[in-house]
Amino acid sequence: MTDLAGKRVLLIVSGGIAAYKALELVRLLKKEGVTVRCVLTAGGAQFVTPLSLQALSEETVYTDLFSLTDESEMGHIQLSRAADLVVVAPASADILARMAAGMADDLATTLLLATDKPVLVAPAMNVRMWQHAATVANMATLAARGVTVVDPDEGAMACGEWGPGRLAEPPAIVERIAARLMPRAIPVPRRLLTGRHIIVTSGPTHEPIDPVRYIANRSSGKQGHAIAAALIELGARVTLVSGPVAIPDPPLARVLHVETASEMLDACRAALPADAAICVAAVADWRVATPSDIKLKKAPGAEPPALALTPNPDILADLAKPAPDRPGLVIGFAAETNDLLAHAAEKRQRKGCDWLLANDVSAAGGAMGGDDNEIQLITAEGHESWPRMSKQAVAQRLAQRLAEALGDA
Ligand code: CTP
Repeated sequence: MTDLAGKRVLLIVSGGIAAYKALELVRLLKKEGVTVRCVLTAGGAQFVTPLSLQALSEETVYTDLFSLTDESEMGHIQLSRAADLVVVAPASADILARMAAGMADDLATTLLLATDKPVLVAPAMNVRMWQHAATVANMATLAARGVTVVDPDEGAMACGEWGPGRLAEPPAIVERIAARLMPRAIPVPRRLLTGRHIIVTSGPTHEPIDPVRYIANRSSGKQGHAIAAALIELGARVTLVSGPVAIPDPPLARVLHVETASEMLDACRAALPADAAICVAAVADWRVATPSDIKLKKAPGAEPPALALTPNPDILADLAKPAPDRPGLVIGFAAETNDLLAHAAEKRQRKGCDWLLANDVSAAGGAMGGDDNEIQLITAEGHESWPRMSKQAVAQRLAQRLAEALGDA
């Protein structure tokens, strides 16, 4: 037993193949001495039975068919408040949308609207549903209202696709429930960057050749977006200037979507002043000098068109140059395949930035598009090797270092 003993959780089980994991969640919570009262939605009842939840929770299970107006039973309001925490696991795209819209069209959403207790959701759905702009907007709405989100895991899904969307594992959900119920028992990250404004560039740029073709690169935007999210987690106000990417906007960031390097530079300059700028975007070094207004055609027997290229502005160097509105800390990234430290140190000097995070993009390093990075942090004082870690962990470490450097930690 842990300190969770004696706590009361109202667990709403909504529809989805992951509903079977709710049984394991109930078992783990009961083992910790938690009283668990379950509400099963109509969708959830397609995957688990009220009887199995009742057997494990040793409590009455509430469904839409159950009358809460019965005198011997609790009313809606009482049920929604007779708990220390309301947990929705798994939370389907549908119930999250209804929560965000404030609907009360079944027992579960009525309780969620009536409760005055903290709410924690553990979403589970198909990867495309999770990444759909509607779900992203709903999650941002719920997060802004103080709902705790246990992000879904990434992996193979029941529908045969791969990506984020799988319900987090029950032990991880229990951990987050404990953190939410006993905020003082578990150290909560201090909001070290509150009041700071930070510009982050992310993703590739697309440089047009003609109306249908462009020059680009393989940047996924994962690292830049993770950095924006980590800074927001520490309380910063973030302007994310993003090239075209296939990943969702981080909740609560101000995101400026751009295509070309010139647009990215203009967006960054317009976002000044800032306390720091972090250039993570893989900006195309060149653009076509005069892109064609009309689609280039293949004339039979003719030579391929010669594309005259011209250099793009260097956004990092531009933001780092001495100026009254230069951000206090300007940070760049370097992708190297060989002589990493020497090239990175030279690049830091040449670009005039304060810090440079160098990573190995050779076949062995494999940072481009992957989920991990192995960073060397180069500063005026020397260099620091970070062990291989996920892009999220790199983001969190950088956010923490930045808070220290800005004197907030
Ligand atoms: N950068 C930028 N604007 C550019 C080019 C690069 O802001 N036009 C930034 C990137 O966001 C990154 C750093 O500069 O922070 C990378 O510099 P770059 O010279 O492109 O280095 P590499 O990508 O490592 O490539 P190369 O070694 O070929 O110069």
